[in-house]
Amino acid sequence: MRVIEHPTEMQLFSNNIRQTHQSIGFVPTMGYLHQGHISLLDAARQQSDQVVLSIFVNPTQFSPGEDLSVYPKDLPKDLDIAEKAGVDIVFTPTDKDLYGDHYQTYVQLKQLPNYLCGIHRPTHFQGVATVVTKLFNMVKPHVAFFGEKDYQQLAVIRQMVQDLNFDITIIGCPIVRESDGLAMSSRNVYLSKEQRQTALILSQSLYRSQQKVTKGITDAETLINEAKKDIESLPETRIDYVRICNKDTLEDLPEVMMDGLMALAVHVGRTRLIDNRILTREYCTVKA
Ligand code: PAJ
Repeated sequence: MRVIEHPTEMQLFSNNIRQTHQSIGFVPTMGYLHQGHISLLDAARQQSDQVVLSIFVNPTQFSPGEDLSVYPKDLPKDLDIAEKAGVDIVFTPTDKDLYGDHYQTYVQLKQLPNYLCGIHRPTHFQGVATVVTKLFNMVKPHVAFFGEKDYQQLAVIRQMVQDLNFDITIIGCPIVRESDGLAMSSRNVYLSKEQRQTALILSQSLYRSQQKVTKGITDAETLINEAKKDIESLPETRIDYVRICNKDTLEDLPEVMMDGLMALAVHVGRTRLIDNRILTREYCTVKA
């Protein structure tokens, strides 16, 4: 496994790989790797000849007052995990490499960022779209892998790739959860023992909502209000949003007709957590 820091070296490496007609699979991350990231690396390993993992805590997707300065980091452990996952290249550019002096170009989508997390983090998706564009231009992948955990991010990337004619296939991978249902996240490390228990309410609310839909309760307002009541009954919770929306456009749905995306963002103490699930009328097997 090789570690490449400089963008020019990354481009050179990818050009060489492409000349040998091997495919490049790419997993962009902000590091502090967990099983969710590893699932993306596994998918990349299966579907491509060379796997590139990037680790870069992207400052432009954080707003002032968010957790940029304390975002967890452990490069030695990440490199160990990457090696075990069969990664070929770990790309670790620096802030200066990506956003040098006089940086002034950003990628901005018009519609998708106007919903869900975009309302509460107004510059977030501009930062994500910009850094992913830059990483795509440096890594030059054939295929790139993103988690459904960040559902809106995946939608933004798919739209951007279509709009800007990137010749890259985007693969969405399912949410990886802890055995008790909590969606894995680098930010879970911020939670105290009590908060970790409270955080279970996110996945539980989604699960309970699916059970209600299965029973025939499909009115979005009813489902949302009941989920909000459950979440608010717990200590240290503050809801950013609980929404049921069209899974493609992210527009609010009045009712779960066939299916709908239920998405939520909740602060537990000072940690902001997100989770989502597709609610479906067809759902019949009982599964946590
Ligand atoms: P990060 O939060 O490190 O996540 C990297 C990738 O891992 C994303 O595609 C994310 O959706 C996926 N992921 C995280 N937790 C997951 C889980 N529990 N199950 C499945 N996939 C999971 O997302 C980012 O970094 C950044 O915004 C980035 C795309 C790298 C741009 O800076």
